[in-house]
Order: sequence, then structure tokens, then C-alpha cells
Amino acid sequence: MSNQPWWRHAVIYQVYPRSWADADGDGLGDLPGITSRLEHLADLGVDALWLSPFYVSPQNDGGYDVADFRDVDPLFGTLADFDALVERAHDLGLRVVVDVVPNHTSSEHPWFQAALAAGPGSPERARYVFRPGRGDDGSEPPNNWQSKFDGPAWTRTTDPDGSPGEWYLHLFDSSQPDLDWTNPEVHAELESVLRFWLDQGVDGFRIDVAHGLVKADGLPDADLALDETRDRSSLLPMWDQPGVHDVYRRWRALVEEYRGTQTALWGEDDDRMLCGEAWVQPAEALAAYVRPDELHQTFNFSFLMTPWRADALRASVDDALARAGAVGAPQTWVLSNHDVGRHATRLGRSDATQVAEVEGIGPHDEQPDPVLGLRRARAATALMLALPGSAYLYQGEELGLPDHTRLPDEVLQDPTFARSGGTRHGRDGCRVPVPWASDGPSLGFGPGEPWLPQPPEYADLAPGRQRGAEGSTLELYRRLLRVRRELGLGTTTLAWLPDAPPDVLALRLVDADGVPVAEVRTNLSDAPVPLPAGEVLVASGDLDDGRLPSDTTVWTRPAGS
Ligand code: GLC
Repeated sequence: MSNQPWWRHAVIYQVYPRSWADADGDGLGDLPGITSRLEHLADLGVDALWLSPFYVSPQNDGGYDVADFRDVDPLFGTLADFDALVERAHDLGLRVVVDVVPNHTSSEHPWFQAALAAGPGSPERARYVFRPGRGDDGSEPPNNWQSKFDGPAWTRTTDPDGSPGEWYLHLFDSSQPDLDWTNPEVHAELESVLRFWLDQGVDGFRIDVAHGLVKADGLPDADLALDETRDRSSLLPMWDQPGVHDVYRRWRALVEEYRGTQTALWGEDDDRMLCGEAWVQPAEALAAYVRPDELHQTFNFSFLMTPWRADALRASVDDALARAGAVGAPQTWVLSNHDVGRHATRLGRSDATQVAEVEGIGPHDEQPDPVLGLRRARAATALMLALPGSAYLYQGEELGLPDHTRLPDEVLQDPTFARSGGTRHGRDGCRVPVPWASDGPSLGFGPGEPWLPQPPEYADLAPGRQRGAEGSTLELYRRLLRVRRELGLGTTTLAWLPDAPPDVLALRLVDADGVPVAEVRTNLSDAPVPLPAGEVLVASGDLDDGRLPSDTTVWTRPAGS
């Protein structure tokens, strides 16, 4: 086994605190709920958990609108509850990664309230991006930028005398004003926030909208057609600007100061980690974020957005490994999170082999095929967990949860739905509370009515139904994670096998001594293919009389090893 630091190969499980476990019965998950369920993660076999925001927030964007970076929202508990969570996780050998949201604050943050009160030209306004409007009376937004949640990225303020005032920038909801990263005070504040949570014992950060902080000088108009495609973010004035890399160089140095402060827990492998959420393409631009003196990881969203087709997946894996490898970084794989449709749902869409649409769907959309979706999702996960590098799992995917695709409009909470005038369903479908039991009002999520209704099919997917059940998705994940750890798959290198049948991905994983430790095959054709010689270590579905059925992945021990 190699001596590589944990973050180069860790499997990290994302907990969305609103939806994991509700201890106090208010219908929303909380920190004591999470602590009470941590054994599930230890049993699953992951290395770490990442918590989406639990900070003080009006919850206009599920907590990604932070009003106090240094405290727990009473909805989720207290700082003492957070300490208890970290302590329990560490006792179980699980590292704890938390979110940091540096691109914007909530409009309820004291800084923004002070900025509104202080007026144009004040140092308080200089922490955000306030500008006069265009046109004679300033009634046009300062530029043409659009919010990621639809509508203009600018909102006009009202002066104390009631007359219209300056505009402020918000790349997301109007309740999420962007901070101005040309202001040293902003740098100092966020660095102090990092130290605050490091001092609470956290093991790393997931950096929200990591590519958004720095905007192009002069805030020029954007080519909006380009913004839509997401594939050349480096050409847009609000994303992936060169100055953002300076921020991460400083942050890397900051977290390195904490190396070795918890050797009692982690021995030599005592490193803190930074993972950027950067929707940046091409892969070369994304790799710039993980140069040796910047972030440790960035999510590889290209993989998640790849159609379910052998040629496309192979190209995506190759490109990702080559680009990260060129800067000496590990690759970081992910298939689901709180912003995209779950892969069990996406891969059941009729167009899944052609496009990888990640937006959530609602009752008026074509419904996915749940059986096909889960079958492919299991195969996709088995492929992902074999790949060299680190991997992220999203809560409930180990249960095979699909999205709730029939949530009625009245219950939707994602600001995307309202801001798009109802044309975009939004992300609530993947955020539905997790079922812990097969009956009861919220399927064991908590004693109260859950904040989003669960679909009826969740009852059969509760862990109690799956634990120990042959062929269940939970047992598949447990086995994948155990074998991955035993064979050290995260630290291997990948070689494609020659002579694979068409539409079959076939690869070999080789350890640092050049010894092949496993072979992986994913059959994306529509007919079974012969299984190779060698012991089957794990398969994502039933094998068909010595053959590998379509939409199935198998790990084998190479013959003779
Ligand atoms: C990130 C988060 C998302 C949030 C947005 C604005 O993309 O993952 O949930 O809405 O940032 O903070």
C-alpha cells in the first residue's frame, strides 16, 4: 500500500445537513441527527464526510447564503453540537470536511446590511460589488450578466429617501450579494474564517463556487451564448479569472500550517485538504487549480456530464487523468451531489446515451426508467470507485435513491424555480430527506413532517431492507469500498486493455510496483459479453452464465496474480 496522503485517494461522502437526519423533529435535518447516524458511514467504509453549509443563514439557497460564517444556525444546532459531531467522526476514523462560501454572503450578513446603510462610496460598500446603473437615469443594470438561477445578476438598491440607488452584483440569488475580492478586507475575513474552522478540528474545506471570486477588471459585458454552454468558462468575465489562483496559493499555505497538529489522530497522514467546486472547462483550465501550491482537489464535473457511452466515457477519463497528472494532482470523481439530478435518475432518461442533462426534472417532464437508471447507476459507481484518485459520494446514493421527480410546484424551495418563472424545476428533487426506515411518517428521517415529501418508492430503499440482502445497492457499495481499500485502487495507475469488445470499457489498475491488482470492465453495449478469466471480486449486477450483461461493471483479479 502506498504512503500517499489521504486526500489523494479518499472516498468522501457528502452530507446535505437539511436532509440527512432530523433529531429535533422540526422537519429539517440537524447536526445531532448527523452525529447519531455516523456509524452508517463507518460501516459503509468511506474515509471522510463533507458537510454542506450549516451556518447561520436565512436558507434562501439551502444555507449557501451565509449570514454568519462562524456560527451554527439554530436550525441545525450549536457549536457544541458541531464539536460533538467532529469528535464522534474522528473516533470512528472519519475526517470532516466543511463548506466555505467565499463568493458571496447572505443579504442578511451584517456586512451587507452595513453596506446598504452606509451608502455609495463607503468602505462598507467596497466589500461588495456596488455600481451605478447604465442609462441616463441609471435604470439599466451595470452590465448584461445573468444569475445562475436565471434573471439579471444585478439588483437595484433603494436609498434611504426612497429614491432608486446603486445596483449590486449577485451571480446567484438576489439574496446572495457577491463579495469584492479586490478588497484586502475580504481576503482577511475569509482567511480568518478558515482558521476558525481549522481550530474547531476540521480536516478540510469544499470551496463553493471556487472559480467565481475574482471578476474581470471593469466588469465587461459577457458573451451570454458562451455562458450557457459552460464549456469555455475561462473566456467569461465572471468565471475563472487568473486572480483567483492567488487566493488559493495563500489558502494552501494557510492550511499547510495546520499539518501535524493532529498527529495523535492521523499519525503521519495529518494533512488538511482544499477541494474546489469549479465548473471550469476545458480540463486544462481546471487542472490549473490543482497545481502543487494551490488546491488539493477540484471536482471533475466533466465526468458527471458525460453521456452513458463507451467512447465518451473513455475520452472523459483519459482527458481528466492526463490533465491532473500533468500537474501532479490526483483526479477527483463524482457522479451526484445536491446541485444535479442523481445519477440513478439521470441515467434512466431516454437520452442518457446522447447527452448528460444534469438539471432536475418535475412531474410535467418525461419520467425516467427507474430500473434502467439504477442498473446503470450501479455500473457507473463501480467504474468510478475503481478509478485512480479520490471519489465523492452523495448521501443516499448507496441506497440507490432516485430523485423525487414528481414534486408538486407548491413545495419547491430552490430559488431557481421562482427566478426562472417556473421554467426550470430546480434542485429540490435530489435533496429529499433520506429514508432510514421503511415506515413511519418520514421514513425514519425524524419525528416531524419532512421539509420535502419523500416519494413512496423510498420505503423499500431504507438501509434496514438492504443490509445483508444479497444484491442490494447498499451491499454493493460496501463491497466496492472494502475491495477498493484492500487493493489500494485509489493510488493505482490505469491502463486500457487492448482488444476489448466494442462498447466495453476494459481497464487494468496497476500498483506502484507495476503489479496489476484489478481489471475492470463496463459493458455499455446492448448484449452480454464474455467474462475474462480471473476471480470476480465484485459485480454491479447479476452475471449471466459467465457473461457480463449490458450496463454492468465487473472487477476481477487479473488471472495469474
Ligand atoms: C454552489 C452550491 C450551490 C449553490 C451555489 C451558490 O454551486 O453547490 O448549491 O446554490 O453554489 O452558493
